[in-house]
Amino acid sequence: MPWRNELQQQHSQRKSDSLWRTLTTVDSPPDRTIRVDGKNVLNFCSNNYLSLANYPSLIAAATDATQKYGTSTSASHLIAGHNTLHANLQQTIAEFTGAEKAILFSTGYMANLAVPDTLLGRNDLLIQDRLNHASIIDGGKLATAKLRRYAHNDFAAAEKLLKATEHDRKLLITDGVFSMDGDVAPLAELKAVCQQNNALLLVDDAHGFGVIGERGVGSLEAAGLKPTGNVLLLGTLSKACGSFGAFVAGDAVYIDTLIQHARPFIYTTALPSGVVAASTKAIKLLQTESWRREKLQENIQYFRDAAQQHSLSLTDSTTPIQPIIIGDNVTALKLSQKLLERGFMVVAIRPPTVPAGEARLRITLMTDHTHADIDRLVDALTK
Ligand SMILES: Cc1ncc(COP(=O)(O)O)c(C=O)c1O
Repeated sequence: MPWRNELQQQHSQRKSDSLWRTLTTVDSPPDRTIRVDGKNVLNFCSNNYLSLANYPSLIAAATDATQKYGTSTSASHLIAGHNTLHANLQQTIAEFTGAEKAILFSTGYMANLAVPDTLLGRNDLLIQDRLNHASIIDGGKLATAKLRRYAHNDFAAAEKLLKATEHDRKLLITDGVFSMDGDVAPLAELKAVCQQNNALLLVDDAHGFGVIGERGVGSLEAAGLKPTGNVLLLGTLSKACGSFGAFVAGDAVYIDTLIQHARPFIYTTALPSGVVAASTKAIKLLQTESWRREKLQENIQYFRDAAQQHSLSLTDSTTPIQPIIIGDNVTALKLSQKLLERGFMVVAIRPPTVPAGEARLRITLMTDHTHADIDRLVDALTK
């Protein structure tokens, strides 16, 4: 069959399985309300957890930096793209997270491609939680190390995998806060298991960084840990920080290895100065103001109480990611469309992003949501 026809047939199949994905064009910043198809709707599917993505002081930092340093860095980090702002941000991240050193990546996806491929070789072992984010799974596909996966959050199963092998080096990767479920990995147990088995632990805290922990450092801080010794932290700057980019923080020996050998760091243009300045400003705000995370936590609790009063079935997530598991794709999609008609943006997440039979409405909360917004959502969900 000609290639074109084959693709068209695949498209028809995808549509009849309710798996066809469409691009929704938003015509506004990612605030609590967004403009979709000429209509303002309440936004319950953004990773802008702390409502910083359209915040005046971040915009001012990005604008000033752009005026001073231009729109592009026009070179990779190791050529001439690494400027004072990148150096400052790396230092700020290292200090804030309690790490010896940090390295910037253009996206969290690229950071996840970089770490296993750079730190592991053919004779090594990579083990992962089954529900890890797609970018971690793809990092595993790129690496030459042997890949094994363990049942979600099952640190005893992870330990068995670590004990069963004679590999030279072992790396365990887990989401800190799971992106589609909102639950938090048992990091203290995973760290202990890794330590006892001479393995390195990498925590991808894309959804915990800025949100949880006493100072907002994330799920490691909430577990009483730091990115030192056998622990590495990967964070994104595009979610709670309202900016763009990512970092890996840890002991200098690992970060230096990434600078020397990580292809997704070396062979790409350094982040634009505007987003780097916005990221630094966001981290300064995390350090000096706690009201955003407190208000967010309060919104999470308010949503959970209201949903439970209306007998909506929730998972036991305590983070801004509050999924409602629907099951089949058709129903999840229909509910999402109905919610949009009623003025709520809540996207249906379907396989392969989540396991088959576990399609869901992934509700995310942010600091700027009001109790009235949440009441309206719960009311619409109940109906
Ligand atoms: C757990 C996790 N890791 C990594 C990423 C990728 O980050 P980025 O959007 O910066 O590529 C995401 C993004 O959505 C994520 O949820």
